[in-house]
Amino acid sequence: MLLSIPQTSHLFGGLLIEEETKVVELDAGMIDSESSVFGMSPRLGDYDVLAPYSQVTKQHEPGQARASVGIPPAVLETMFNQMAIIVPCKDESTETIEGVLSGIPHSCLVVLVSNSSRFPQDRYAREVEMLTDFCRFAGYGRSRPFVAIHQKDPEAAGALAAAGMPEILDSDGLVRNGKGEGMILGVALVAALCPQRRFVGFVDADNQVPGAVNEYCKAYAAGFAMNACTSGTTNTMVRIVWGSKPKVKNGQIVYDRDGRSSRVANKWLNYLLADISGPNQGASANIVATGNAGEHAMDMDLALKLRLASGYAIEPFHFVDLLHQLSATTDTTNSATPFKPVKILQIRTRNPHFHRPSDESHIQKMRRAAMGAIYHYLPLGTAAGGGLSLGDRIRACIGIPPAPLVYPPIERLDMAVFRARIMAEEKEGSFESFGVPEKVQE
Ligand code: GDD
Ligand code: MG
Repeated sequence: MLLSIPQTSHLFGGLLIEEETKVVELDAGMIDSESSVFGMSPRLGDYDVLAPYSQVTKQHEPGQARASVGIPPAVLETMFNQMAIIVPCKDESTETIEGVLSGIPHSCLVVLVSNSSRFPQDRYAREVEMLTDFCRFAGYGRSRPFVAIHQKDPEAAGALAAAGMPEILDSDGLVRNGKGEGMILGVALVAALCPQRRFVGFVDADNQVPGAVNEYCKAYAAGFAMNACTSGTTNTMVRIVWGSKPKVKNGQIVYDRDGRSSRVANKWLNYLLADISGPNQGASANIVATGNAGEHAMDMDLALKLRLASGYAIEPFHFVDLLHQLSATTDTTNSATPFKPVKILQIRTRNPHFHRPSDESHIQKMRRAAMGAIYHYLPLGTAAGGGLSLGDRIRACIGIPPAPLVYPPIERLDMAVFRARIMAEEKEGSFESFGVPEKVQE
């Protein structure tokens, strides 16, 4: 894979947000070892992480300016071996989910977290049957490793509560509905059962183009190869900017560049960054291109430390929590262990993002969820600066948006307790797996 290299990055205390880069070639051929993939983007340690905001422009030696970097297939494969891909799913057709599975590189561990209905038909049972068949078929005579669980499994609820996250249970004692909640359960499973998976990525189950799924996973791997293999002193998050979000208008497919809710989430997150950078710094309006990136990945270290939000607020809230933890103007710390500097990569992929169409009320709900993630958790330092504060502006625009639930970081779970409960449940509950717990490599 060949990626363009960011020339400008934006530093908010210990949070570095790289400008949008793009996939130049899906397959860049055999790349010689001279084109080292490491250290191709700014190293966080090189900058003053105490400044509220600074813009970092890549300095090239004369004659050494490089616009792109190739990541050899063998390097991607090394990363896939360390990646788990969580697929949140709610009532998608098994054909669509199977298409998604076909696009996830073979060496990634697939984790299906389903909130599909079980009555009157047990859709989850059909999903597991399909997944088991698929993995057997793809397993060279054995089975490809996988994990599957149902979000409403009483044992999953019991395991999360016993391990220290009772907040995620609803009044019926089961895990709450919501994509974010499903993703949290997925991350906990990876942490408990597959400790050598150092990276976790998310791919929606309603992706209709397997080639797009494959590209997202490759972009995750490429991003990690460029950044996360070094000293482990920083954390990395890779967020996908879809090549396009096609819509059918008047019988024609129109390849819109931005999603309808992303446009709004990005705008308000950029306002937030502008406020934090201060009136004289003028962080530009277009830093965040991935406010709603359902397709994203990060190292497990970060996935365990971040506070994750409920439902569709989860992706915009990443920025908000990272600013809370790392922006030099704030001093809230909600994690048990201190945050390392974090780098966010935003990679524009080539495939169009075709997924199950959403109606306007769903889009409206997602926009409000994103604005609620900002409004109710404004980091300190977002000063009004004489004019209307960001909160006032949001309120003037849509009233008071709903407050998402924000869960404690997953690292607070007692993993031994969680693992024991989940594994004990294997015989009766919804938990199905092959090849896990994975043996820790020596
Ligand atoms: N496990 C689980 N639990 N999965 C769920 C749940 C749930 O309660 N609700 C939805 N999902 C699954 C869906 O089956 C789908 O695969 C994925 O989560 C995304 O849900 P959609 O309902 O398709 O969301 P969307 O397409 O409107 O929004 C997606 O893109 C947005 C950006 O445009 C999501 O990924 C958003 O999070 C993202 O912001
Ligand atoms: Mg969708």
